[in-house]
Amino acid sequence: MKLLSSSEAETRDIGRRLGEKLKPGDIVCLYGELGSGKTVMVKGIASAFGIRERDITSASFTIIAEYDTPVPFYHIDLYRLNNHEAAELGLQDYIGGSGISVIEWAERAGSEIPSIHISVNFRHVSENVREIEIEGTEL
Ligand SMILES: Nc1ncnc2c1ncn2[C@@H]1O[C@H](COP(=O)(O)OP(=O)(O)O)[C@@H](O)[C@H]1O
Ligand SMILES: [Mg+2]
Repeated sequence: MKLLSSSEAETRDIGRRLGEKLKPGDIVCLYGELGSGKTVMVKGIASAFGIRERDITSASFTIIAEYDTPVPFYHIDLYRLNNHEAAELGLQDYIGGSGISVIEWAERAGSEIPSIHISVNFRHVSENVREIEIEGTEL
């Protein structure tokens, strides 16, 4: 499914709708260049689990942020990861369990990502417009 978002709020809303569809164990992989809206969408997805927007941050030193929600929620941001480090992260401890994992720069995890997952591709169309393609679930 391809959607057009013309504001940050709209992307957050799409994220919330996606979050409401997720089940324990689901993995959401987010792809797209820097500034394309991945973290904005994570805020929306997380809001469906009662996580406050300001508690979702961009990766600085935290690669994996874990939230103590009824369904464990993991925000994983691989921006600062080198390819050879992916295998050392122990990603399977998170994505192999019954929590929800949302992964920015998921391409950097290579074969660590199970083949069954939801993917979201972001394309930067103009300053405030993003094309968002969701595969693996309906909204
Ligand atoms: N339609 C839109 N959807 C999402 N973000 C948008 C949109 N239009 C403008 N923006 C801006 O683009 C930036 C996206 O940042 P961010 O979500 O951190 O990107 P990423 O995590 O992909 O690097 C924010 O500054 C946001 O305000
Ligand atoms: Mg980000």
